[in-house]
Amino acid sequence: MVRGAEAVSAGYAAGSLLSVVGLPVAEVSRILQMTAQLERMPLREKAEVLRGRRVALLFYESSTRTRTSFELAAKGLGASTTLVSDKSSSIEKGESLKDTGLTLRALGAECIILRHNASGAPELLARMTGLPVLNAGDGMHEHPSQALLDLRTMLERLGLPSDRVDAASLRGVTVVITGDIQHSRVARSNGLLLPRLGARVVLCGPEGLLPVEALGMGREAAEGGSVEIVRNFEEALRGAQVVMMLRIQRERLAGMELDLTEYTELYQLSEERLRRCAPEGAVVMHPGPMIRGLEIAGAVADGPQSAIERQVRNGLEIRSALLVRALDATAQNM
Ligand code: NCD
Repeated sequence: MVRGAEAVSAGYAAGSLLSVVGLPVAEVSRILQMTAQLERMPLREKAEVLRGRRVALLFYESSTRTRTSFELAAKGLGASTTLVSDKSSSIEKGESLKDTGLTLRALGAECIILRHNASGAPELLARMTGLPVLNAGDGMHEHPSQALLDLRTMLERLGLPSDRVDAASLRGVTVVITGDIQHSRVARSNGLLLPRLGARVVLCGPEGLLPVEALGMGREAAEGGSVEIVRNFEEALRGAQVVMMLRIQRERLAGMELDLTEYTELYQLSEERLRRCAPEGAVVMHPGPMIRGLEIAGAVADGPQSAIERQVRNGLEIRSALLVRALDATAQNM
């Protein structure tokens, strides 16, 4: 099995999900299939799949959707969970990631879900503990489970099979990702994954938030897929089947001056702009948290083209499959 072999050679436990890079398309397909299988399962049966297993959530950054969905997914599968956050633990006293990880392992954690402000922290933790680690967002690097739940959401909304993919599944589909691309791990993971399934990914935003280097994420693109930059939002919208809006990450802007009034004028997805520029029925997505009235108008977020709530729901479904994969419970219980 590719997954196991790769992980062992890289020095961390099979079942880890650290990045979408190196995640074979066949493995993405298997995760989607497991997701569909788990979703169909009666709740009582589902609660047996990870019964008695221990999952630790280790969060060094705030989170609503990602944390809650991982936690509820683990509980729904019968696992017990414990949350350690930097605000109320020995992390505040200066304990290192390594020591915190080893402590969780000594207490019986079999899998760690990590959100950290440093890029690469999940890989380090995976190496240091030998436990499967699920990257719940590391700095400006990656957010692989978000890319998978976004993928499932767009497949569903575009009327494509959502329980399997191959290198041509998104051929002919243009996904426009707009906003603070520079600081967005969500944009990175999507930009690295979707072209490998054949999608044309268009990145859109002002130069300060979208440097040309962002095109580097398309290096892995397989035939058919591509990553390009279109600076003019209205022009970018014209070919979009999917429009993914991103939050301006004020906490990461560090010294950069951004005229928010001008930004809103040029890049906000308003009702009028969506109607006038995008093809009919274009799917609107946002990973959250969204700032209504800034990057997206409230009416669009709540409108019929919005898949935002479905994204949240798919977070629960995809993360259930990732937990089962991490703890390799398939053989015994599914
Ligand atoms: C994002 C994150 O934390 O990377 N949200 C999420 O996990 N759904 C995006 C953000 O913070 O803007």
